[in-house]
Amino acid sequence: MPKRLYVTESFPGESLSSVPEDVSIDLWKGPEPITYRELAETLKTADGLLCMLTNRVDRALLEETRSLSVVSSMSVGLDHVDVAACTEFGIPVGNTPNVLTQTTAELTFALMLAASRRVVESDRFVREGRWKRWDPELLLGVDLHGSVLGIIGMGRIGQTVTKLALAFGMEVMAWSRTRREIEGVVWVPLEILLARSDFVSIHVSLNDSTRNLLDRDRVMNIKDGAFLINTSRGGIVDERALCERLTSGELGGAGLDVFEVEPLSAKSPLLNLENVVVAPHIGSASQRTRVRMGEMAVANAVAGLLGKKLPNCANREVYD
Ligand code: DGY
Repeated sequence: MPKRLYVTESFPGESLSSVPEDVSIDLWKGPEPITYRELAETLKTADGLLCMLTNRVDRALLEETRSLSVVSSMSVGLDHVDVAACTEFGIPVGNTPNVLTQTTAELTFALMLAASRRVVESDRFVREGRWKRWDPELLLGVDLHGSVLGIIGMGRIGQTVTKLALAFGMEVMAWSRTRREIEGVVWVPLEILLARSDFVSIHVSLNDSTRNLLDRDRVMNIKDGAFLINTSRGGIVDERALCERLTSGELGGAGLDVFEVEPLSAKSPLLNLENVVVAPHIGSASQRTRVRMGEMAVANAVAGLLGKKLPNCANREVYD
């Protein structure tokens, strides 16, 4: 009997059609995303799961679906998976690190520039026929060069953002739990970073120690006029406090790819603000990167199903 791999979304590339014969693919085809209950039911007869960051894989789901031999997520972040519970149940968890680093760093700059140079606002201005003359005071923004960028989290993406920032002529301050010597980076306590940066960009992963890291008090302490850029996870920032500071005009603006609740409601007050640029969690969404992520996720899943070590395993201790 082939091993049955349950896949919760289709994705770019051919990797699903090149799995070995002893693996059969079962792909969710609903017009809506699979619900938690539907996933729990369907996994009762699956040997492996290839999921997205939108699928919650918690202890209760694992308890219900005792037959899984691998959980492979097409994401680098694993805040949607209870990795500790997987380890306890002997299930290796795969993810897709490295391939999306540069792509996510590039989106960070896209948002930074879009917010600070008012690109989306300018686009609307022209489309709505409001452009009547060249006006020296029209749509003035903030330069990246000569500004201070505060990077929260100096993992792979934070380091790549640093390189790009230095090339833009920005000064870089950083705060991270693990400190690394990186040329051109000044390490500061988080409170100092928030109080002194013209741009704050978040690059920590979401876990118990970073959830609500930028709580209300910290959001209130972000320097007046600064821009907040988030391509990591919405749960790291108190969104309500952020919205308040953006609404009052105390902050210069924000570029947000991630939100406390996704998809962001069309009624979110953030969407009434001209100084906010939003995107639907597309940090890794280039064609090439998504194909690579798919290939890695499939390679992890197939390895797990065939009893081999996952090429990218987030809980290596499962093999001890
Ligand atoms: C990830 O892989 O965790 C990213 O958020 C996807 O863009």
